Amino acid sequence: MLPYTMSTMSLLYKLDNIEYSYDWNHQKVPVLKGVSLDIEKSSFVCIVGPSGVGKTTLLNLIGFIESPTKGKIDFCGSSTAGLSESEKEILRLKNVGFVFQAFYLIPTLTVLENASYFLPSLGYKKEQANKWTLEILDLLGLADHCHKKPLELSGGQRQRVAIARAMVKKPQVILADEPTANLDSVTADKIISAFQELQKAEGTSFIFATHDSHLVNYAKRVIQMKDGLIHE
Ligand SMILES: Nc1ncnc2c1ncn2[C@@H]1O[C@H](COP(=O)(O)OP(=O)(O)OP(=O)(O)O)[C@@H](O)[C@H]1O
Ligand SMILES: [Mg+2]
Repeated sequence: MLPYTMSTMSLLYKLDNIEYSYDWNHQKVPVLKGVSLDIEKSSFVCIVGPSGVGKTTLLNLIGFIESPTKGKIDFCGSSTAGLSESEKEILRLKNVGFVFQAFYLIPTLTVLENASYFLPSLGYKKEQANKWTLEILDLLGLADHCHKKPLELSGGQRQRVAIARAMVKKPQVILADEPTANLDSVTADKIISAFQELQKAEGTSFIFATHDSHLVNYAKRVIQMKDGLIHE
């Protein structure tokens, strides 16, 4: 392992001149055009900008779901360039909680089973996994719904199950795409307090793509995307 300096060690992400294009209709559609960005550990960051600017694309890159067309991403002081798909999957499993805009809950599993989905792969025993998951579900106001299936829930309840699934992993970072889009302001405040509690206890970072000014008010840092670049 390289002798990283303390300033590098405290960085969660270092993005160096990231470019990303989609292939569409035999053409390259550039979305990110050279994004450089340092994000400290234990951050609370909102990424904002108009629809179609590339917020979800950026989350997919820093969640190791996609790889940049150009440029490099360091995570916790280590380069992620050249990692194989299975190495990226392990990195994601251990370090990243992802809340997708479309949730991607498994319809045949209960709320408790969905929320605790990744814990066996992280070495949790079932009893321990269920106990911890129930604590998080309670914190998110879902304790009474833990034996329901996703189709028996409201949109906002489903969104909270997806949030719980990310939180129970106690990852380095939770990346969330519009995490409050389906929530009223009282429920959104409850979720934000749960995030703050996890951050205090575990040093977790939160990076959100959002249009919600209420959520942006809580952010310690706001990153504005425009024309494929970022502005702060
Ligand atoms: N699979 C794809 N193929 C081609 N172009 C795509 C694809 N996915 C996204 N794009 C384009 O990339 C751009 C950025 O999309 P992205 O989803 O990152 O935007 P966004 O900022 O998250 O928008 P929103 O606020 O509406 O969620 C858009 O112009 C979109 O049309
Ligand atoms: Mg989006």
